[in-house]
Amino acid sequence: MLSERIQIISSEFGIDISKVKDLKDLENLRLKYLSRNGIIPLLFEDLKSASKEEKPLLGKSLNELRNYATNQFDSLKENLEISSSAKEDKIDLTLPGIIKTLGSKHLLTQTLDEIKSIFKGLGFSILEGPELESDYNNFEALNFPGDHPARDMQDTFFINKEFLLRTHTSPVQIRVMSSQKPPVRAIMPGRVYRNEAVSSRSYCMFHQVEGLYVDTDVTFAELKGTLVSFAQQFYGEGLNYRFRPSYFPFTEPSAEMDITCYLCHGKGCKVCKQTGWLEILGCGMVDPNVFGYVNYDSEKYTGYAFGMGIERTAMLKYGITDIRVFFENDIRFLKQF
Ligand code: DAH
Repeated sequence: MLSERIQIISSEFGIDISKVKDLKDLENLRLKYLSRNGIIPLLFEDLKSASKEEKPLLGKSLNELRNYATNQFDSLKENLEISSSAKEDKIDLTLPGIIKTLGSKHLLTQTLDEIKSIFKGLGFSILEGPELESDYNNFEALNFPGDHPARDMQDTFFINKEFLLRTHTSPVQIRVMSSQKPPVRAIMPGRVYRNEAVSSRSYCMFHQVEGLYVDTDVTFAELKGTLVSFAQQFYGEGLNYRFRPSYFPFTEPSAEMDITCYLCHGKGCKVCKQTGWLEILGCGMVDPNVFGYVNYDSEKYTGYAFGMGIERTAMLKYGITDIRVFFENDIRFLKQF
């Protein structure tokens, strides 16, 4: 009887499939039951000779058997394939991991962040001015009159007779003092431009931080105290420093601050040109003429100013010998910081 054979084959299939251990066993199972000459298709052949009354019911249970067998086969096949491929590319725990490189801030940004946070701690606020500047703010009001030779200290990109790319951040001093009354205590970071031949020591664009403090009774001693405190926080406690007389049109007296050479510790080497010292910034007491340009009463107020290059500062701190590396965006340089 066909209906009994269907029952028997169904349970035999159940037993056979429970014994399947791998894809090879499974293929044998398929050949035995489901292939064109397998047991189940042959049962469909037998169905043809069944009586008219029996056919619908037998057909139904045969279909059920075939669906059951096919589903069982498919899902077992999927499971076996997954576990066999997992075996093939077994995870090798001795392999090195995949390193995901994280981006970081550019060294100049890091340096400026540090400078800002030190001066914030010393009571300075942070202000900015534009890179396109008037000749008046960049030179005139900073006491570089008309054809004054000091203008040649800074090779300038002129836009026209009246405007230029600022050659230093000092014009922001003029903007700040023209727009607010003393006391003023701020640092002013930003880009500056100079029409110089590019070399390991100079670039056509770089960054500076300007500093300005104006109030009643501001002294040179305070200037020194503030800058020494900055240098110790930035370059490290034990450093030696000195102030050397210098000249800037907008400060009187003017000075430059040196620290002990990081490379030779003062003995003298190529980096410090055998002097044992490295210049880190320019500074001085605001020239009364400058106060005149911004309508500050120079009888009542005194002030100090200072300015430093950020590239130069980073180069000194990290022993970098070529300024161009800051602008080449070579990942081998950038990722060291
Ligand atoms: N502006 C000067 C320069 O670019 C640097 C400087 C020197 C700024 C002395 C100052 C200062 O504020 O007091 O060379």
